[in-house]
Amino acid sequence: MTTAPLLRATGLTKAYGATPALCGADFALRAGEVVAVMGPSGSGKSTLLHCLAGIVRPDAGTLTYDGRELTALSDAHRSALRRTDFGFVFQFGQLVPELTCLENVALPLRLGGERRKAAEARATEWLARLEVDDTAGKRPGEISGGQGQRVAVARALVTAPRVIFADEPTGALDSLNGERVMQLLTDASRDTGAAVVLVTHEARVAAYSDREIVVRDGSVRDAEWAA
Ligand SMILES: Nc1ncnc2c1ncn2[C@@H]1O[C@H](COP(=O)(O)OP(=O)(O)OP(=O)(O)O)[C@@H](O)[C@H]1O
Ligand SMILES: [Mg+2]
Repeated sequence: MTTAPLLRATGLTKAYGATPALCGADFALRAGEVVAVMGPSGSGKSTLLHCLAGIVRPDAGTLTYDGRELTALSDAHRSALRRTDFGFVFQFGQLVPELTCLENVALPLRLGGERRKAAEARATEWLARLEVDDTAGKRPGEISGGQGQRVAVARALVTAPRVIFADEPTGALDSLNGERVMQLLTDASRDTGAAVVLVTHEARVAAYSDREIVVRDGSVRDAEWAA
């Protein structure tokens, strides 16, 4: 395919002290595609995801998003971009325990300056779409793990991001719940056109992606973009 990538990383390098986590990783993501990131534990998958998302600054390498050089942006610009264009789902939902599920989903909109009523109306729609409307008034401590991940997916999608970064989003769920979360996440991404970068250990989860890349010892094997 010839479509230019939305997000492109070249030569990403990152070490934690003496521990190398990424050693010149290359990666490209097209608008709307779902890519599974696989590879052994400790190979650098999470580090790659965090660098791509602008959460961790790489020691070397370049990162372009939508024609902009991300590594050259100020911290404030990068956070703003993260808020408007990116959504995140982690292994354990990481919902705010003091807020209700509805407030959790509305939070990214509120942080973006939207009024409470409008934000909560959209949050309600997304909770329904993820089939967890009944959690609206509950706090994260009062719902199941599977429900929590659906709420987390709703929160990631509510701002209509162009890219969703998900780090083992079903890693803490049983297979049935995991499959349903994956189905809902990929359906929603296809409907909204959001691309998904999905870290997973499980081939069954990776099967929901359009393509797979493998991270090994801090390098990426990506058949599609290989030179
Ligand atoms: N905050 C950190 N401080 C020190 N070392 C780290 C840190 N984060 C990751 N590492 C190291 O960097 C390497 C890559 O870690 P990373 O978390 O990216 O692997 P991973 O592929 O996501 O592993 P897993 O599948 O277990 O989640 C590992 O050797 C890890 O120990
Ligand atoms: Mg990881």
